[in-house]
Amino acid sequence: MQVFREKGRLLEAIREKKSEEKSIGLVPTMGALHEGHLSLVQFATQQTDQVVVSIFVNPTQFDDPDDLEKYPRNLEQDIALLKTKFENLWIFSPNATELYDGKIVSQQFDFGGLENVMEGKFRNGHFNGVGTVVKKLFEATEPDKAFFGEKDFQQLQIIRKLTDLTKLPVEIIGCPILREDSGLARSSRNERLTDANRQKAAFIYKTLQTASELFGTKSAKEVTDWVEAAFQDQDVLELEYFMIAEANSLQKIETKEKEKQYRAFIAVYADDIRLIDNIALNN
Ligand code: PAJ
Repeated sequence: MQVFREKGRLLEAIREKKSEEKSIGLVPTMGALHEGHLSLVQFATQQTDQVVVSIFVNPTQFDDPDDLEKYPRNLEQDIALLKTKFENLWIFSPNATELYDGKIVSQQFDFGGLENVMEGKFRNGHFNGVGTVVKKLFEATEPDKAFFGEKDFQQLQIIRKLTDLTKLPVEIIGCPILREDSGLARSSRNERLTDANRQKAAFIYKTLQTASELFGTKSAKEVTDWVEAAFQDQDVLELEYFMIAEANSLQKIETKEKEKQYRAFIAVYADDIRLIDNIALNN
């Protein structure tokens, strides 16, 4: 396990590896690591020779300064967790001035409409911030492959679009959502739920599974109405949005077409903790 704080030293080490015909895998994270992150690292170690895990809480993707300040940061704990499962990882943990060359602002991107729905609609400027930092991480690590979770499916599609726009030669690998035994998607936010609410939050994935079954015979509108009604009966969980969209464009479905892939997306508050999840509707 080696920790790099500076871009220059890291890129030097990476280029040396590449000169030995070794492939580089990048797993970008904001730290507060959990099993979901570790599953991405596992995929990366299976598919590439040298894995770089970046740990960087990116200021430009937060629209709420309070949220940014409260984001958990514990590098030592993250490294200790990675060490329990992996050897020979490289950790890239720069400070903001280093990664942004002193200018901590977002680049503006045109993601072709992907950025205006769901998380983009509810979190102002979020995806410009994500695009900005991921582009910088790609430039800093020149990976052959980069690994992202389907947990943030919209982010994954945005990153695919980013590589089209920037022509950076990196293959984007989407990895499945890791869940708790109850079905709740793993997230660092789950730790902030009370035990009772953590149990109640299992309802989110159960509802997605039922929605997926219903979608076999019912229209998107009927399924959406059913989900909205189901949440009306919940006391702690408050539905922010549920949407069925075409999986590539992320545009809301109008009428079902045979060859298209659809996905359902959901955001729910459990008291003040915001949880997101999604599910494939037809494979
Ligand atoms: P972060 O929230 O730390 O997530 C890092 C990666 O872990 C993302 O690709 C996310 O989709 C994945 N992930 C989180 N929970 C998961 C789960 N339960 N199963 C599978 N994968 C999971 O996403 C970000 O950081 C940032 O936006 C980042 C891309 C690092 C840019 O700052």
